[in-house]
Amino acid sequence: MKLQTASAEALKAATPLAVLLVDESKPAKLPGGTLGTRAAALMRRKVFTGKLRKTLLLHNEAAGGPRALLLIGMGKAKSLVPEDYRRAGAIAVNTAAGLEATRLVIGAVGGCKPGKDDIEALGEGAVLAGYRYRERPAKTKPPREVRIVSGLRGAAGVLKTARVLAESANLARELGDLPGNIVTPKQLVAVSRKVSREGKLRCRVYGDAALKKMKMGAILAVGKGSEKESFLIEMEYRAPKAKRTICIVGKGLTFDSGGISLKPPDRMDEMKYDMCGAAATIGLMRAISLLKPPGVRVIGIVGTAENMPGQHAYKPGDVVKSGSGKTIEIINTDAEGRVVLADALHLATGFKPDAIIDMATLTGAILVALGSESAGLFCKDDGLARTLEAAGQRTGEKVWRMPTYEAYADKVKSPVADVRNSSGREAGSCTAAAFLFNFTKGFKHAHLDIAGTAWASRKRDYHVWGGTGFGVRLLYDALTHWGR
Ligand code: BES
Ligand code: MN
Ligand code: ZN
Repeated sequence: MKLQTASAEALKAATPLAVLLVDESKPAKLPGGTLGTRAAALMRRKVFTGKLRKTLLLHNEAAGGPRALLLIGMGKAKSLVPEDYRRAGAIAVNTAAGLEATRLVIGAVGGCKPGKDDIEALGEGAVLAGYRYRERPAKTKPPREVRIVSGLRGAAGVLKTARVLAESANLARELGDLPGNIVTPKQLVAVSRKVSREGKLRCRVYGDAALKKMKMGAILAVGKGSEKESFLIEMEYRAPKAKRTICIVGKGLTFDSGGISLKPPDRMDEMKYDMCGAAATIGLMRAISLLKPPGVRVIGIVGTAENMPGQHAYKPGDVVKSGSGKTIEIINTDAEGRVVLADALHLATGFKPDAIIDMATLTGAILVALGSESAGLFCKDDGLARTLEAAGQRTGEKVWRMPTYEAYADKVKSPVADVRNSSGREAGSCTAAAFLFNFTKGFKHAHLDIAGTAWASRKRDYHVWGGTGFGVRLLYDALTHWGR
């Protein structure tokens, strides 16, 4: 999708669809013309008042001017946050798609005065709403070109950032939506290599043989039940004179059957989404490679495997030795994500990073606790937690801080190994996080449990049923507003 700036005149010119963002608190001066005049009359009669998310659509068959005019209510403009603009951008594009309009122009009127962050959000919402899963026959086609009226200096640059971020999130969504027989661990390697080649990132891949040499016994154990090879993937971006090193780690289970501790068949198909942490990591590295944020070195690490039952599968009761040297007692082979992450996180510590952030569809329990509204954030460092919370506010990819008590660490101790991979249902997400912290001792570490936010079960504005790309925009924002 093309995303460009436009001048205010574009709202009056001949175009398939013009969109106006309307503030509720101040009378707006509409751009005139046939539709603008009619809309102004309807507003005077309070048919449309600009209440948040209310819309009014008018058509005009005569030549000249916009063929359709969409008013989107923005409520009281003073209290708006970027997320409101993101949703407005999506509403505009969804309306255009419904009208089969190939282009549209969006402007704000009256008291509605979008700043830079708002313009960026508007553009993101538009591009996110244009996502179609390529394997599903789409009911509507997204517009090809979206223009946004803004007099702000730097608006064009902001829209480029918006487009790259949203396209990168859309890449993550697509990886989530594709089935597990297409997106295999090997396929995640192929996509990582392609993204790295296009963005000039250093990319290193460790397959079964290399993992054996590195004594990465945890990820290898998880992958044993599958005939497919397991991989640790590294993608590195380094800005000139980088001041800090951040490692991003993603869980990439391309399918999670539960293994010997087999999941019930009901909705097991959803476990193709168990690689969304990896997808977000790859999407993020793509965005970073194209936008080149200054001052940072970022290493994206993906741990990818398939969790299957079978003759060679790891079993409850097994004790496996991770790359860190710590041993793990396997209680439940369905708690495999943390086992894979044990080795992925250990690989991350080798870079001596200033912080490690992992994203994982780790527990069903976080879905019970928070639903799909926000991800669970587990972090013992207040500064890092605040950075992520602030990023969540700005991007609309919200995180909610969860407790990290020592009592949870005690619960994952094992009588026969250093740690055990499950301690039952109680505080399931918290004990999972406590397990992970064993492998990043001495480093700042934030764990994001995205099991509830990685996919959406219904259509809403810029999301449709399927992958959400959660984490791409969140972490790009965090990396570029570090410590602020
Ligand atoms: N991938 C699942 C977690 C999950 C569940 C993600 C539902 C999305 C939706 C993870 O590997 C898992 O199976 N976790 C178990 C852990 C338990 C066995 C300790 C869980 O949450 O039930
Ligand atoms: Mn599992
Ligand atoms: Zn899993």
